[in-house]
Amino acid sequence: MLGKPTLTGLANIRAMTNNDVPSVSAIELQVTPHPWRANQFIDSVLKHQCIVLTLETEVIGYAIYTIVAGEAEILNIAIHQAYQGKGFGRQLLDYLMDVVSENAERFYLEVRVSNEAAIHLYQEVGFVEICLRRNYYKTSAGLEDAIVMAKDLQFGL
Ligand SMILES: CC(C)(COP(=O)(O)OP(=O)(O)OC[C@H]1O[C@@H](n2cnc3c(N)ncnc32)[C@H](O)[C@@H]1OP(=O)(O)O)[C@@H](O)C(=O)NCCC(=O)NCCS
Repeated sequence: MLGKPTLTGLANIRAMTNNDVPSVSAIELQVTPHPWRANQFIDSVLKHQCIVLTLETEVIGYAIYTIVAGEAEILNIAIHQAYQGKGFGRQLLDYLMDVVSENAERFYLEVRVSNEAAIHLYQEVGFVEICLRRNYYKTSAGLEDAIVMAKDLQFGL
């Protein structure tokens, strides 16, 4: 018997355009303590790889990443608050690992030590901690360490 259709099965991933920036910025404001400004997303559309996750026509998540000399890095990733915990973050990350593995051997990211949800998700897909950057992020209470995580990709597969 077929299982119940999942919401993640209905979501699509496509390139981000400037028209998406208002929706993306609205999510960013909602879910991150030090949100990127709209201009940073507009710059990223020009300079980096940017994708959005949509449900019907609504943008519910996004990721910004770079690939330079065989090394990829996630610069920003988030899911709309109302859609968190439903598998969309995992879907976006699985997609990223697939496309990035065509052009990179290693995937890097940085995450706040207090961001348990993100750390669990990254561990679940095979990222491991490689070092700690002391006092890397500003917070309302002072500074916070960043964990640098990496995952080896199956280059070209
Ligand atoms: C981090 C984030 C992208 C995860 O997206 P999500 O759609 O909520 O995650 P998923 O539903 O796909 O969950 C996948 C896994 O992440 C982990 N996870 C998600 N939410 C969690 C939570 N609140 N606590 C602990 N682990 C959590 C679990 O391991 C989960 O796997 P499981 O469902 O098998 O237990 C999302 O929470 C988010 O946008 N956070 C704000 C922005 C942010 O912190 N971005 C990352 C910056 S480095």
